[in-house]
Amino acid sequence: MIERIEQLSRIESLLRQNRVVALLGARQVGKTTLARQLAARRRGAVTFFDLEDPLHLVRLSEPMLALAPLKGLVVIDEIQRRPDLFPVLRVLADRPRSPKFLILGSASPDLLRQSSESLAGRIAYRELNGLSLAEVGPARRDRLWLRGGFPRSFLARGDNASFSWRTEFLRTFLERDVPQLGLRIPAPALFRLWSMLAHWSGQTLNSSELGRSMGLSDVAVRHHVDVLAAAFMLRVLPPWHENIGKRQVKAPKVYVADSGLLHALLGIRTRHDLLFHPKVGASWEGFAIGQILAALDARPGEAFFWGTHGTAELDLLLVRAGRKYGFEVKLTDKPTVTASMHIAMRDLKLDRLDLVYPGTDAFPLGERIRAMGIERVEAEYGAASG
Ligand SMILES: Nc1ncnc2c1ncn2[C@@H]1O[C@H](COP(=O)(O)OP(=O)(O)OP(=O)(O)O)[C@@H](O)[C@H]1O
Ligand SMILES: [Mg+2]
Repeated sequence: MIERIEQLSRIESLLRQNRVVALLGARQVGKTTLARQLAARRRGAVTFFDLEDPLHLVRLSEPMLALAPLKGLVVIDEIQRRPDLFPVLRVLADRPRSPKFLILGSASPDLLRQSSESLAGRIAYRELNGLSLAEVGPARRDRLWLRGGFPRSFLARGDNASFSWRTEFLRTFLERDVPQLGLRIPAPALFRLWSMLAHWSGQTLNSSELGRSMGLSDVAVRHHVDVLAAAFMLRVLPPWHENIGKRQVKAPKVYVADSGLLHALLGIRTRHDLLFHPKVGASWEGFAIGQILAALDARPGEAFFWGTHGTAELDLLLVRAGRKYGFEVKLTDKPTVTASMHIAMRDLKLDRLDLVYPGTDAFPLGERIRAMGIERVEAEYGAASG
């Protein structure tokens, strides 16, 4: 078992401040496990409802009657099965002696549209990602990169078993989970698009070109991308625009959110396959960005990428409390400053710019510019994100 103490204490603190907390994340990322651990640490009553269990669904057929008398903590798992419960939670959460609700689900609020409308201002959202470098420890960095952060994939007996788990995960996701979200996208079409996006991982999204090559409209491509992102399968970095009188890139950048799934889509099974694959740099970039965002505990709306047409680019821009932090990510042993980094520094007036590379040390490269070994990311950014 891998301890996720930091995750537990963040959820506990949200539960102290809010009546309803939603813990959302990809399928199989460890939500139920975490909720059970949290329940075990708590004093007082805890009631679990698992909406994938037909008996629990029956118990909730009259949700108001079933939930109103409960005390302590009420966990409702697989909320995407009954989004109609949100209005009920709203009524209950407004009552004076309401229990706390922890709801778990594998689709983002946009997909569970009812939640955002009916619980606005009463619910705190938290996203659970795969295992992080901080959680597995630096000695297992390369394994985490190759296999990704799904616990079963990461902990599998060998690389082949891990690869098979991920292939099966992709199949189940497309054939079972997508239809369950009420989406009528044929699995083969979504799979083809996803594979295509894997090859384009880390590039700006050109939905019309992608659509043309697949016989889809650009609107359909964007819709499918939104769906995969809302189910936490893709990470979309929106473009940042600065008033500098230069033409800037307006399309978002898209990554396969989990490096292990990226590798499954690309047919990369082993560390050797990975290191000699043409997409190794893009894979590293996506992995490192995921680790940086995890260490910073970034919230939706804080992370961007930035690029001008031709001259400069910044892999990741974090905008928080009026400050701008830039990150470049490079698969290199010898991090050095590039012209593009100087331009980004100046044009965006960055407070700081870090060049994240696969190493253990942090050292200055220039004024407010540092080289940052990925293994230092948690120590450097973790505390600051408080
Ligand atoms: N911290 C952990 N250490 C080791 N194994 C874990 C950990 N968290 C989860 N797992 C394992 O990963 C698998 C998925 O975990 P879990 O059921 O909690 O995920 P989930 O997000 O609730 O998935 P789903 O969306 O499919 O319900 C389980 O086999 C579980 O035992
Ligand atoms: Mg679960």
